[in-house]
Amino acid sequence: MENLVGLLRSEFQERFQQQPLVVRSPGRINIIGEHTDYNEGFVLPAAIDKAAYMAIALRDDDEICLQAVDFNDSFSIRISDLRPVTNASWPNYILGSAAQFVNRGIPLKGFNALLVSDVPIGAGMSSSAAVECATVFALNEVLQAKLDKLTMVRMAQKAEHEYAGVLCGIMDQFASMMGKRDHVIKLDCRSLAYEYVPFKLDGVKVVLFNTNVKHSLASTAYNTRCMECETAVNWVQEHVPDVHALRDVSEEMLNQYVLPRNKLIDQRSRFVVQEINRLLSGCADLQQGNLRALGKKMYETHTGLSNLYEVSCEELDWLVDQVRRNNAVIGARMMGGGFGGCTINLVKEEAIDELYDSLKPAYESIFRLPLTMYQVAIGNGTEVISQ
Ligand code: GLA
Repeated sequence: MENLVGLLRSEFQERFQQQPLVVRSPGRINIIGEHTDYNEGFVLPAAIDKAAYMAIALRDDDEICLQAVDFNDSFSIRISDLRPVTNASWPNYILGSAAQFVNRGIPLKGFNALLVSDVPIGAGMSSSAAVECATVFALNEVLQAKLDKLTMVRMAQKAEHEYAGVLCGIMDQFASMMGKRDHVIKLDCRSLAYEYVPFKLDGVKVVLFNTNVKHSLASTAYNTRCMECETAVNWVQEHVPDVHALRDVSEEMLNQYVLPRNKLIDQRSRFVVQEINRLLSGCADLQQGNLRALGKKMYETHTGLSNLYEVSCEELDWLVDQVRRNNAVIGARMMGGGFGGCTINLVKEEAIDELYDSLKPAYESIFRLPLTMYQVAIGNGTEVISQ
């Protein structure tokens, strides 16, 4: 991290001849509770020790000048021209976040920003939420807008909706902004009430295996899933008016009002209803120190995501199947939106290297893609690291 920040500071000074404020905003993992956030259910994410770093300083004019160190690319636009760009994706996360200040009537000023990140892109670790949260947080500081963290979480989420076109729930931005070292966040995505649950596991580590599969249609499929869930809610609502989201729906309601109408919509919504319950009991397992029971539920989540929600892929399924009967892997499943990215595994520390050594060559020869591994630690949320 020190290297990245040092690099960022010196590049910024060289390019803009100014002293920047530097903000760090992490990626996230999610233990259990997938595709539940936009259904007003619960999630159990945590911020990780990989992050986006933004150096920022205000300008005297109304230009927004951006540079991404990782892409060796730059982009400029005037505040009055703010809109999503089509020829590159990285500026949109920053511009969309800046636009939220304008939307709220907070006077935006021109600024210079330099970005570097070690959150792998397209790996399901929310590299985009990290950039959005870094931007909103950094602008809040330099504009002295005095926004509270929850407001900033919502602004970062809207940036994703409006400038990246993904109708995401609130999990990623919440975890990035609100993360706490060695804790997972049990978040109620309806009320945004949350609880930090200690997550220091003796002898067990969180290991991510990255399939390196990136599906360009993932965001379209994601929005389709959101709509399928909404359809199920509408159908139940015709009979039970006080149902507002899948959070309020039971499997009996699905049997009565959804299954007879459409099998696919039933399948999608059934996964979500089951997953919300699975998270609640998985969280109780964690609080009681029963990691094996939690791990078993992670495997069940994967099966549901693969068979019912259909957001997995061959590579993710293979990685989970390989570890299912391995006693050293307490739980495993695909993580995040799906269609590629990582699996999350709870692995006994002493077995990690051997596991990677056996999975890697087999994976690479079957799928002709590299298999990368990350051991992640749970860190703090968005913060200023130097000014
Ligand atoms: C993506 C979205 C989140 C959440 C997950 C699936 O990461 O950004 O809001 O819906 O997928 O759990």
